[in-house]
Amino acid sequence: MKFSHGARLIGVGAGLPSAVVTNFDLEKLVDTSDEWIKTRTGISERRIASEEETTSQLAIAAAKDAIGFAGIDPQEIELVVVATSTPDNLYPSTACMVQAAIGAKRAAAFDMEAACTGIVYALAVAQQFIGSGTFKCALVIGVDIHSRFLNWADRNTCILFGDGAGAFIIKADEKENEMLGTYLRADGSGGHLLHIPNTGSAYPHAGVTPPTATHGFLEMNGRAIYEFAVNAVPEAVRAACSDAGITVDDIDFLIPHQANMRIIKSAAERLGMAPEKIVSNVNEMGNTSAASIPLAMWQALKRGQIQVGSTCALVGFGGGLTWGSAIVKWTAVDQRQSSQDEGTQVTEVEASKK
Ligand code: COA
Repeated sequence: MKFSHGARLIGVGAGLPSAVVTNFDLEKLVDTSDEWIKTRTGISERRIASEEETTSQLAIAAAKDAIGFAGIDPQEIELVVVATSTPDNLYPSTACMVQAAIGAKRAAAFDMEAACTGIVYALAVAQQFIGSGTFKCALVIGVDIHSRFLNWADRNTCILFGDGAGAFIIKADEKENEMLGTYLRADGSGGHLLHIPNTGSAYPHAGVTPPTATHGFLEMNGRAIYEFAVNAVPEAVRAACSDAGITVDDIDFLIPHQANMRIIKSAAERLGMAPEKIVSNVNEMGNTSAASIPLAMWQALKRGQIQVGSTCALVGFGGGLTWGSAIVKWTAVDQRQSSQDEGTQVTEVEASKK
């Protein structure tokens, strides 16, 4: 897709709950083992939100971190898009709560939901607004607290997910376009394979006072989702590369949705990508749904895996069913770097980890 204005990712940020829950902790809750979870998923631990920590709080922390990275004034932001399936409430939107908290006084704000693919959809939406010249600066956040919707007695699902938020800042660029290509798809006929029933207005108990039942929990056909994912990832990356006018060989890093290391490795193999090109933090975050791609990128930048000039394939898949990919060239540097080196700056995210 060709746009009249170029777009560039200039910031990335994270917002994480402070509590770390290990596989050994889960052994005390359900009939599972650290070895089973690590072998089947690659996950060792995950962050889980406390009762006090909310989706909006994590989103706001990630937004502030990304704004710091980009070195922009929040008033430059003209669009806030939050991808989430687990907002604090039906409304106001999480995006409006973020907009107020960061002082983005000139921004439009809305939430959108494409489950774990949400961040890729949100990036594509932001690119449409920036590419058309409507807005010059957008904040895009993926955030989820799935732990509130997990059945903690179901070993098939509760071991997989973690909570968190990841954010990107995207800015118009008159000289270069670094959001090179996108691809988005959905297949609603597979919605029942991964869903959280009894959480919306179709729920017969909604609005009944006092409540007659608790809300539903995440339900999943693990094998069917596995099969879907290992096909969806290569399809999306190849199609987004084609949109970008490049080939899979031109990709330096694959930044996939962090659901399961076996899915990620199998998809990379199908794409003919070397293991060194895989970016993953699933071992320490689990599946953080809409947050997982920016969180993986945030950590890869911190450990120096992704370099300035790297061409990255972001690729998501999840409930809906939905899947999609965005090809981006990463050229941004953390504007706080010098002050961090002097030890003067501690972001809220860093502080929240202590
Ligand atoms: N600990 C120990 N045993 C477990 C377990 C756990 N946490 N969860 C399931 N098992 C058991 C099953 O009950 C089954 O036992 P059985 O053979 O006696 O019935 C056995 O392990 C094998 O289960 P199976 O479903 O074949 O395992 P798997 O190799 O397919 O792995 C998943 C299960 C869930 C890890 C895998 O299917 C998967 O990752 N699917 C995709 C899920 C996903 O990513 N969802 C989110 C997408 S956004």
